[in-house]
Amino acid sequence: MVSSGVSALFDAGETVGMGIPCYPSYRQILKAMSLQVKGLRTDASTGFQPRPDQISDDLAGVILASPANPTGTMIQESALADIAAACTARNVALISDEIYHGLHYDAPAISALQVTDQAYIINSFSKYFSMTGWRLGWMVVPEAHLRVVERLAQNMFICAPHAAQVAALGALSPEGRAELDENRAVYAKNRLLMLEGLRKAGFDRLAPADGAFYIYADISAFDWPAQDMAQALLNEAGVAVTPGLDFDPDEGHRALRFSYARSTEDIEEGLARITAFMARHRK
Ligand SMILES: Cc1ncc(COP(=O)(O)O)c(C=O)c1O
Repeated sequence: MVSSGVSALFDAGETVGMGIPCYPSYRQILKAMSLQVKGLRTDASTGFQPRPDQISDDLAGVILASPANPTGTMIQESALADIAAACTARNVALISDEIYHGLHYDAPAISALQVTDQAYIINSFSKYFSMTGWRLGWMVVPEAHLRVVERLAQNMFICAPHAAQVAALGALSPEGRAELDENRAVYAKNRLLMLEGLRKAGFDRLAPADGAFYIYADISAFDWPAQDMAQALLNEAGVAVTPGLDFDPDEGHRALRFSYARSTEDIEEGLARITAFMARHRK
């Protein structure tokens, strides 16, 4: 999905910006397509989302993700509108990854289409629809770009797998939606358990867990490189967490991503193990 959008929008050598930390495959896809990647450093003050003043003339495009991976944070409507306006003013293409839409725990995420009709929207059945691996997604593109995308996409994959399309129709049915909303209720419960349990275990610098199913923790207080801490958690407690390095090559050694897309029993067990692990290592 992303590669069709990217090849429709950009020429080799151009520069595309994205907030760091970010979903790592974007950096790799862009590099593989001979594009330059410009990381836009984000921090807790903007919920790890880029700022409008980071949209500069050297960019051909910018990729946003809200809710984001790895942070789970969402961009506010006014900030999104300001970024869209900055993109229009500087002739920068806006790609909005909305793949975690539907997985919010308070107000729903804002779509870029609510603030502009000039964005490329990327979405997929992989997250809210729980169809990771079925390789089905969609894009919404400005009317004027439709034929370009159609011509490129039909060369890249001709058509999405038929079985996946039939399964997706099931997911969109009222019964399917009811099941998916039950999943979301499980994530909502897990999220609260995680926020409470991680804080009790000593992780008190957490990004706002607005959506998706991730919690991003700043672990700088422990003075323990994320890679090593994640390895120790796996070896000693049997709990898999993701060190931040892949999402953020410069600062990610001070961050861990926790996922709560499991059953509540697993989350309770995982939190108990993390708490015991942390208590052992504090001594
Ligand atoms: C922000 C983001 N975008 C895109 C993807 C790709 O998802 P898929 O290729 O399964 O549709 C992921 C997967 O983790 C993601 O986190």
